[in-house]
Amino acid sequence: MKILVLGSGGREHAVVKAISKSLLADTVYALPGNPGMKEAVCLPGDVLDVPGTVQTAKEYQIDFCVVTPDDPLALGMVDAMETAGIPCFGPDKKAARIESSKVFSKELMRKHGIPTARFAAFEALEPALDYVKNQPLPLVIKADGLAKGKGVVIAQTRQEAEQALKDMLVGRAFGDSGSRVVIEEFLEGPEVSVLAFTDGKAIVPLLSAMDHKRAIDKDQGMNTGGMGAIAPNPLYTEAVAKQAMETIFLPTIRAMEQAGCPFSGCLFFGLMLTQDGPRVLEYNARLGDPETQAVLPLLKSDLLAAMLAVRNGTLKEADLVFSKASSCCVVLASKGYPGAFEKGFPITLNQQPDAMVDYAGVTQKDGQLVTAGGRVMSLTATGADLNTAIDKAYAAIQLVHFEGMRCRGDIGARAVGGTYGTARIR
Ligand code: AMP
Ligand code: GLY
Repeated sequence: MKILVLGSGGREHAVVKAISKSLLADTVYALPGNPGMKEAVCLPGDVLDVPGTVQTAKEYQIDFCVVTPDDPLALGMVDAMETAGIPCFGPDKKAARIESSKVFSKELMRKHGIPTARFAAFEALEPALDYVKNQPLPLVIKADGLAKGKGVVIAQTRQEAEQALKDMLVGRAFGDSGSRVVIEEFLEGPEVSVLAFTDGKAIVPLLSAMDHKRAIDKDQGMNTGGMGAIAPNPLYTEAVAKQAMETIFLPTIRAMEQAGCPFSGCLFFGLMLTQDGPRVLEYNARLGDPETQAVLPLLKSDLLAAMLAVRNGTLKEADLVFSKASSCCVVLASKGYPGAFEKGFPITLNQQPDAMVDYAGVTQKDGQLVTAGGRVMSLTATGADLNTAIDKAYAAIQLVHFEGMRCRGDIGARAVGGTYGTARIR
């Protein structure tokens, strides 16, 4: 089969690698991909250009297309590909609303009694400001639409809450994405990411993971697209998993079916383990980044076969087998990220590290890979236990160099120690 993976990030590189191991895959293409992806043939194009991407897929006689970035899903890439006769892994536009509209997902959860933070949704400023007056602090303000992970404000004071509402509803800080907002109760507890494959009827969770969203050690600094991940997440015990399956995962896919938009693809549950049990913080309509880089190296069975089963509605019969090992993924970022950063620095890798190297923000200049993004690449090591995986990941990054390279030194430390461990590097 000819497979096309859309996107260019570390998540897509991990997907390309896993798919290229499948006996079912003859050629793996990536659009636009990145020059670090040696396992794929990269095709020029822009995943926000839906008709252009479909046209390219037709030209290359693609048999199956994997759509993992949020924007093309929300734009209806899967609908357009399927209409053109190209089967896809990923939800259609209506089902992708579970991520692309927080108002939609919160109302779905409320209607079906799926545990989540209490909330109210607003389109106009005055009623939103009135509502805030009587709510306990802190308060969480979220833009309705996609905002590259930046559309969430945790307001510690009423003034901060009012400012966030004004920025979103009047200042249009997130454009149309913030033309509606959700105001949520603040929840406390550790977070768990669960990626689950579903064909709309069956749902099969992959391994749990822990993301590290903040830029600096000990969860300090700004939110980023993710600075690293570990899998499985030791806080996600079997008892929690059972509870999440019964109270969240199954009710969610049933709710989507009842709403007339059954979900097919990877449903990502961002959970908070509160004292009252697991609560949904957010849904994503796709594989997470960097969770995917941490989870896929532990998958022993055929990823492409599972994705095809999702598309064909035969997930119940599919095999998804994981090793009992653990993994640690450390993101190497450009100095300054998630703020302004310089690019164009040569990347050197003196010897092949004992880790998966997934490229993200890279380009090629005179035959040399150079930095081209905030998150440049990630290294993922596996080990019999999490400590071993963490040690191997941090040993591996010693082999990489580019000017301004920085990473968090404490990926997985909290998972290992229960509290923050000692950072391995500074
Ligand atoms: P989201 O994009 O909705 O996952 O939110 C980004 C981050 O904001 C989450 O990973 C949490 O750390 C935090 N967050 C979101 N909603 C809440 C909430 N209701 N209570 C506390 N923290 C939250
Ligand atoms: N790691 C969460 C996400 O992909 O948005």
